[in-house]
Amino acid sequence: MICLPHSLRYAPLLLGLLWSNGTLAAEPAANLLAGQQLWSQPGITKNQLQRRCATCHGTNLTQPGQHILTGKPLAPMAASVSPDRYQDMEKVTLWLNRNCQWTFGQLCTPQQQAQLLAYLKSL
Ligand code: HEC
Repeated sequence: MICLPHSLRYAPLLLGLLWSNGTLAAEPAANLLAGQQLWSQPGITKNQLQRRCATCHGTNLTQPGQHILTGKPLAPMAASVSPDRYQDMEKVTLWLNRNCQWTFGQLCTPQQQAQLLAYLKSL
């Protein structure tokens, strides 16, 4: 029989505790980061334009954006300055589907949508 020193015998338990705590604490921060990365990720290129979320919503999300095709102004995306945003999940999902498709050429997964929302709501 292998005789482990006491400290090692408890290592899996300690690691388990650390891991579960670490995961709980890290989860929201990881979501925000993933959302931010997705937001700034370059999308597809069409007509020599590299599409991004910022193409219409701008890079400073506390400032209004402007639709690249229609020229219409868009309310800032930061929830802190646009409290009306992200209230209606039907509207949110509709636009996320439409905008991910336009920007990346494919839909965002439910997880990516949640990460994007976590990021935008944190601003
Ligand atoms: C071609 C222009 C355009 C691009 C690019 C674009 N959006 Fe939008 N987005 C709009 C318009 C137009 C609306 C609807 C009007 C509004 O809410 O300001 C909108 C609304 C939204 C909403 C709904 C917000 C709410 O009020 O509930 C979300 C979320 C959103 N966009 C996320 C994104 C993300 C994420 C990307 C990048 C993947 C992106 N958008 C890229 C034009 C764009």
